[in-house]
Amino acid sequence: MIRGILSGKGGVGKTTTTINLGLAMHSMGENVVVVDGDIKNSNLGLHLGILKYNTTLQEVIEKKISLLSALYIHETGLRFIPAHVSLNFLETDLSNFKNFLNKCPYNLLIDSPPGLNKESLSVLRSCDEILVVLEPYLPDITDCMKTIEIAKEMNIKVGGLILNKLRNKNYEFGKEEIEACTNTKVISTIPFDENILRSLSLKNPIVNYNPLSKASISYFKLASELSGKEFKVPKLLGLKRMLQFVNQKPNFFGV
Ligand SMILES: Nc1ncnc2c1ncn2[C@@H]1O[C@H](COP(=O)(O)OP(=O)(O)OP(=O)(O)O)[C@@H](O)[C@H]1O
Ligand SMILES: [Mg+2]
Repeated sequence: MIRGILSGKGGVGKTTTTINLGLAMHSMGENVVVVDGDIKNSNLGLHLGILKYNTTLQEVIEKKISLLSALYIHETGLRFIPAHVSLNFLETDLSNFKNFLNKCPYNLLIDSPPGLNKESLSVLRSCDEILVVLEPYLPDITDCMKTIEIAKEMNIKVGGLILNKLRNKNYEFGKEEIEACTNTKVISTIPFDENILRSLSLKNPIVNYNPLSKASISYFKLASELSGKEFKVPKLLGLKRMLQFVNQKPNFFGV
């Protein structure tokens, strides 16, 4: 299965979602590989802590070598294929992307560039199914509708929406309104969670850095839904979170 993580707008959380959903699925025993399909502004590899990789997606495509030659394994066990951050690879042509992906014996999660540019359309065209990430605001919704429409024209299945960075404010669009506007189901809601920003600075995906955090629980639930593998929300979650908070803050009582 080739699953793309797309969005109409940029910065909504595609790369974060690709990595954490991939890692959550991996922890449930799924054979999953996450791929950086954002070749012009690649940063999936950076999220995982390394700037330079010997072989990347661009070399795979340009030298027509196997996708698995650019496979890396993160210390968490997550398998991933990074893209080069260098400007030298701006012209890499993704039009044959699907041919490379088809030969890979894993379930793939592809991180896409935002919007409907040449590269994101190539990613879209390569997928069996896409999930669209958005924030709960009007421009996100209208841009998301365009992505859905193009996917449907291409006969690519739209698996659902991932509603990210929810702050539970009355200026946000609600899940039901978004489903009605887009005619598409919201399959996951992920709160705005500062732990994600902390985990990014530590280059450690949130589901590994803080598996009890609200965002991590959302990722595990989504992974369970997509893979069919069971996930039970840990008992006494609120209490465990509180204890974690106290333990993480040695100066909490001003000591
Ligand atoms: N649920 C969340 N809560 C708080 N911060 C988040 C959340 N999801 C993502 N972020 C932060 O938002 C920023 C953008 O996330 P990310 O890079 O994953 O977005 P993107 O859609 O891949 O962006 P681009 O379109 O530029 O590729 C990052 O700083 C990330 O840590
Ligand atoms: Mg990204």
